[in-house]
Amino acid sequence: MWGSGELETLLGIRYPIVQGPFGGGLSTVELAAEVSEAGGLGSFGAHHLGPDEIRAVVTALKAATERPFAVNLWVPQPGETDRPDETELAGHAERLRPYYDELGITGPATDTRLPVPDFADQVHALLAAQPPIVSFVMGVPPAGVVAEARRRGIQTIGTATTVDEAVALEAAGLDAVVASGSDAGGHRGAFLRPVRESLVGTFSLIPQVADAVSIPVIAAGGIADARGVRAALTLGAHGVQIGTAFLATRESGASQAHKDLLGTPQARITVLTRLFSGRHARGIPNRVVRELAAAEELVPAYPVQNALMQPLRRTAAQRGLTDYMSLWAGQSAPLARPGSARGYLDALVSEISASASARTPDRGL
Ligand SMILES: Cc1cc2nc3c(=O)[nH]c(=O)nc-3n(C[C@H](O)[C@H](O)[C@H](O)COP(=O)(O)O)c2cc1C
Repeated sequence: MWGSGELETLLGIRYPIVQGPFGGGLSTVELAAEVSEAGGLGSFGAHHLGPDEIRAVVTALKAATERPFAVNLWVPQPGETDRPDETELAGHAERLRPYYDELGITGPATDTRLPVPDFADQVHALLAAQPPIVSFVMGVPPAGVVAEARRRGIQTIGTATTVDEAVALEAAGLDAVVASGSDAGGHRGAFLRPVRESLVGTFSLIPQVADAVSIPVIAAGGIADARGVRAALTLGAHGVQIGTAFLATRESGASQAHKDLLGTPQARITVLTRLFSGRHARGIPNRVVRELAAAEELVPAYPVQNALMQPLRRTAAQRGLTDYMSLWAGQSAPLARPGSARGYLDALVSEISASASARTPDRGL
């Protein structure tokens, strides 16, 4: 045991290492199951899936591993059901037309009824499918959801980008909290203040969240090797959530072109951009990010921009065209290595366990 053991006991896992969920189709059952089988906590990002698909994912995960795993949903934010009128939407679509033309695909769609799965339906299906753990990002799940999870013996994890968010999640009865520093790859989950007022670096966030809440704290953002894990535990975290380094592994659903960029000097620079989804997310800048920089604040909010960009992103990923893809990556992306998820986790665990130099008496490291 590396730390207090609180997180391991709560979640029923051997090592306090969580494979971060990936939304938008980049999670795979294989990745989550491999991580859980290797003693960590595998996660599956399901925010884009409807109820039937969520049920199927939980069934597939249960078939693939008998160990605990987590399924993740995005809590809806205010205004998410608003849609621009047709003229406004046509303007936003027009901005993207040159890219659609370059790839020779039809679109972007100008249908204002862009579909998004309903959260209440998603969460109902998820809890009924009885996964061992559910995790949430983008907000505090409704009280009824937390109570229902507890009644069913399902552990709940919330995600905070600030100390206030962590306190709110603990007050709502969540069992553990991810402290997601601004170093992290993918979407920012800020929900109490705008993203630009919620960009606390991982090193600053962990000790302050650890001081403010009494539930286990899972540090996320820029952690990719044993040095990062030890640092997070030293700062008061009970465990870590690693995203980008797992995204680079063979089992993740990222395209090969995306994986090939992680672990390279090109991944040393990442930016927060709204251009791909209408919500701030961290990734490696490419042609779309640079050419549309002036439109950063103009593009419509999630999920409208997400829907407008989806066919472009998907086609680009299939064809390996990094100019048009969302290349999500955290600030430690250059530390990522290709290989299997189990190989990565095993090496990480042995390196941490073998490290006598980092032993600290108070946390039993
Ligand atoms: C491609 C990608 C997709 C992500 N999707 C989600 C998601 O749907 N839900 C969530 O809670 N976190 C999501 N995250 C955040 C990760 O689960 C994790 O907290 C984060 O990647 C940790 O920081 P790191 O990338 O520096 O390791 C995503 C991250 C990436 C890179």
